[in-house]
Amino acid sequence: MNLKDKTVIVTGSSRGIGKAVAVEFAKKGANIVLNGRKPIAESLMEELEALGAKTHTILGDVSDFDFAQKLIEEAKEVFGSVDVLVNNAGITKDMLLMRMAEEDFDLAVNVNLKGTFNTIRHASKVMLKQKSGTIINMSSVVGLVGNVGQANYAASKAGVVGLTKSAARELAARGITVNAIAPGFIETEMTEVLSDKMKEQAVGQIPLKRFGNVEDVARLAVFLSENRYITGQVVNVDGGMVMNG
Ligand SMILES: NC(=O)c1ccc[n+]([C@@H]2O[C@H](COP(=O)([O-])OP(=O)(O)OC[C@H]3O[C@@H](n4cnc5c(N)ncnc54)[C@H](OP(=O)(O)O)[C@@H]3O)[C@@H](O)[C@H]2O)c1
Repeated sequence: MNLKDKTVIVTGSSRGIGKAVAVEFAKKGANIVLNGRKPIAESLMEELEALGAKTHTILGDVSDFDFAQKLIEEAKEVFGSVDVLVNNAGITKDMLLMRMAEEDFDLAVNVNLKGTFNTIRHASKVMLKQKSGTIINMSSVVGLVGNVGQANYAASKAGVVGLTKSAARELAARGITVNAIAPGFIETEMTEVLSDKMKEQAVGQIPLKRFGNVEDVARLAVFLSENRYITGQVVNVDGGMVMNG
């Protein structure tokens, strides 16, 4: 897909990986719909506009089905199409399983998995009519191999993998691709909260011996949108942490 003047929705794009994804798509000449729950810094909109992108911000919670509908419909109204949907919004609520509060399990699943379903549900309607589009869902290597203290997060991210593969099969006939990215440890606010000891242990499990950059993930999102013959895949960006057979 040539991304020039295409409409790209990036959920959770106020910071971290989502922000980098927005920047990489702006570099390709796309129009960017930004989202987060809290207001988005003016400086990010200025950065994207300096790259030639038109921007539009729609604040709200992706775990809310009605908000997801508004997000997709408003993006289409403003820019005329929905060509790329990057489901990036995500949270962690870590705790050992035996102490995990029921609401923290629900929260991770509602934002990470149901939020992804919500936007796909509404965007697929538009994309099916267009007979084109691409969806990229942010999973995690934790969804593939599990992690101590992250049963809720791992379950939600594993769910994203099943959702991705099912959506890829359902939407392929109309030329719509659906893929997932599974980052390992990437330097963002989400991983900043880890203690030095945890970071050291994490690096010990990474063959490339460092955390990844947000750009490493963002460039893959652009690649998966441009390529029209990759669908239903989960691509790890993890410095070799999890090597699939
Ligand atoms: N960093 C890593 O090492 C890593 C590894 C594997 C997977 N991932 C995944 O990559 C994605 C981005 O991670 P990150 O590290 O960039 O996280 P981050 O720095 O914490 O940013 C998360 C973004 O999502 C938004 N967000 C959170 N909940 C939301 C909701 N309910 N509705 C709408 N927006 C919401 C946040 O904005 P507001 O706070 O304003 O809502 C923010 O823009 C997540 O799905 C995460 O699970 C990250």
